Amino acid sequence: MAKAAFHIMLILFPIVYAAAAEESTDDGVVTACEKTSNASFCAELLLPYASQFMDNDGNKMGYAAISATLAQVQSTRAYMVRQTTEPTATEKERSAVTSCLGDIGNSDDSLRNASQEFDLFRAAKGEQRSSHRESVIKMIDSARNDLTACSDLLKKHNDVVGAGIISESARMTERSIQACSVAEAFIH
Ligand SMILES: *[C@@H]1O[C@H](CO)[C@@H](O)[C@H](O)[C@H]1NC(C)=O
Ligand SMILES: *[C@@H]1O[C@H](CO)[C@@H](O)[C@H](O)[C@H]1NC(C)=O
Repeated sequence: MAKAAFHIMLILFPIVYAAAAEESTDDGVVTACEKTSNASFCAELLLPYASQFMDNDGNKMGYAAISATLAQVQSTRAYMVRQTTEPTATEKERSAVTSCLGDIGNSDDSLRNASQEFDLFRAAKGEQRSSHRESVIKMIDSARNDLTACSDLLKKHNDVVGAGIISESARMTERSIQACSVAEAFIH
């Protein structure tokens, strides 16, 4: 009996240990996200970058937050681009999505620029640092404005069409907008 229990412990121990280790990796993200306005969305967005949040290093966390936001925008863009050649999409859906792609492309560019600017920010000191910080924030703001313009376009079309493709595009765009706010919360 006792021997059986011991064997079960031997089997379970690595599993329990692995679960505990994973939990502590994620803890950094969860704690860091508590200061943002949508903590559960923030944690979901940044979980794939959890290893960057383990030692509370502002530079690593900021870079991870921009990368996660860029990835969110890029998957939104890829989804919309796919819909433009989707055979089951209606003409209205295609034109609604197409009307958004310019804005989405700009937001993608702005976030890439923000990521490069963040490198300068990381390396800079003193006054230079705050000036690079301002530029990073401006670039993220600009991405958010483009995403908001896209979201408004989709909402207009959604009244008419109310279809899956447009509401999914709108949902992904909304997540991208929220991701911009998460990223800004980590630039300091
Ligand atoms: C947080 O973000 C999620 C995902 O976009 C959204 O569904 C939810 O409503 C947001 N919660 C708040 C409190 O803003
Ligand atoms: C990104 O940076 C490049 C090079 O500085 C610039 O030409 C481009 O206009 C910027 N893109 C956006 C959307 O701000």
